[in-house]
Amino acid sequence: MNEKKQIINGNIFLIGFMGCGKSTVADCFCREYGMEKMEMDEQIEKNEGKSISEIFAQDGEEYFRHLETSLLKQFGTKKNTVVSCGGGTAMRDCNVQEMKKHGKIVLLSAKPETVYERVHCFHDRPLLEGNMNVEYISSLMQKRAPKYEEAADMVISTDNKTALEICSEIIEKI
Ligand code: S3P
Repeated sequence: MNEKKQIINGNIFLIGFMGCGKSTVADCFCREYGMEKMEMDEQIEKNEGKSISEIFAQDGEEYFRHLETSLLKQFGTKKNTVVSCGGGTAMRDCNVQEMKKHGKIVLLSAKPETVYERVHCFHDRPLLEGNMNVEYISSLMQKRAPKYEEAADMVISTDNKTALEICSEIIEKI
């Protein structure tokens, strides 16, 4: 077994803006540290039988936010799990409380330009459709920053780092 595995007993919740690397880092924790992974968006899509874009278009953002909260409330007794949250999950205090009950909250940050580079080719983020530019990303990021920072047990910048470097940095800090 890879000697890096089994280092973490608790759970890690990755929060942060769209394109900050939550899914990539979660995959790395899974691969390199033998953690279980939960992708909130993926789980919601599976439960609802439709994509995030369809949920936003057909049921509205509030309904989606309600789904995020119920998913966290069902977290149960899972251990050794890394959760890749949606970019808006940490905006609700009740979600943050739920995450704090079960593990450490790690905020991944990136510059607006980096986020733009990572997300501009995709069309699966309803909040960025029609707003796909650095200025909008930067303004929404600034608006969200206080809530992200308040929720976080630690903040890790992801610009110019590999997923493995980011994981190691998180492990050291934990
Ligand atoms: C959202 C981020 C998305 C997804 C939804 C809303 C947000 O997840 O949950 O489109 O409010 O920032 P990612 O951060 O994984 O892109």
